[in-house]
Amino acid sequence: MRLGVLTSGGDAPGMNAAIRAVVRQADALGHEVWGIYRGYQGLLVGDMAPLPSRACANILQRGGTMLHTARCAEFYEAEPRARAAGKLREAGIEALVVIGGDGSFRAAETFQREHGVACAGIPGTIDNDLSGTERTLGFDTALNTAVEAIDRIRDTASSHGRLFLVEVMGRSSGMLAVHTALACGAEAVLYPESPDDSYEALVTRLNANWLRGKRSSIVVVAEGDTVGRAMAVGERLKRDHALDLRVVVLGHIQRGGSPSAMDRIWGSRWGAEAVRRLDCGESGFYLGEVAGALVAQPLSRILEPQPVPPGDLGRLIAILAR
Ligand code: F6P
Repeated sequence: MRLGVLTSGGDAPGMNAAIRAVVRQADALGHEVWGIYRGYQGLLVGDMAPLPSRACANILQRGGTMLHTARCAEFYEAEPRARAAGKLREAGIEALVVIGGDGSFRAAETFQREHGVACAGIPGTIDNDLSGTERTLGFDTALNTAVEAIDRIRDTASSHGRLFLVEVMGRSSGMLAVHTALACGAEAVLYPESPDDSYEALVTRLNANWLRGKRSSIVVVAEGDTVGRAMAVGERLKRDHALDLRVVVLGHIQRGGSPSAMDRIWGSRWGAEAVRRLDCGESGFYLGEVAGALVAQPLSRILEPQPVPPGDLGRLIAILAR
């Protein structure tokens, strides 16, 4: 069998580990793998080539994706998808491994349904916002990157007795924000799914901290928070309370860097498992982790509502910041 593999959407540390595992497990089972460059964008124009085992040397420990990636709005339309199916037929590719997030899996689900291409998904996004899995590649690394950065900010916040608002990624999910806030002992966290996500609640919390004698604070703000981006919240606080605060947007620093051991381990396990299942004739699934076990979910499950950060973590952050 000839398999195609692509990475799609925002890159995430651990994607290279998954590519390597796909290629090498396929090699071990006597299958051939072609790399498709720049995700669905590259598939539309047939940007693909054989990916031999040796081409994956020394990529396990590297961030980014050796196949490059893209966000491809065109793939939401039927005609480009039909063109892509034609490209796969021309190249003799019978099955496709898609490493990406929610949008990439939705596209794979439609693509398989419309054109009968056997698809397998490997979760790769620093947002950790896919239903059916408690882990996605890149989340663990991004979390550690954010925590390391905030530990540094904490030093200077404490020296100057300042409030810092630190924005972390997560367009529509507070997963990264909540876990970062808990891991670095933040005084507060703003995230879209929070039951008390409001400017007023934040001000009340900061006032209470001040009265308790806290002279410096870290507030983690999820990029997609409904109160606003960190810069806007900071401006509003300055205007209302004349605070000497600073805003840091961590941005794409969170997306790069060498993958953590866990992201390498799960990238390797999922890459190999995807190929083993395709080899057995299975398709239309994506892999995940639930309670420590490797699981497979039907691709259609991606349409279910995305998971929300556990509410008890939000409460714990408040209790521990006393
Ligand atoms: O999907 C992952 C993610 O990092 C989001 O957290 C963020 O909102 C988005 O990608 C940024 O995308 P881009 O790199 O295309 O600006």
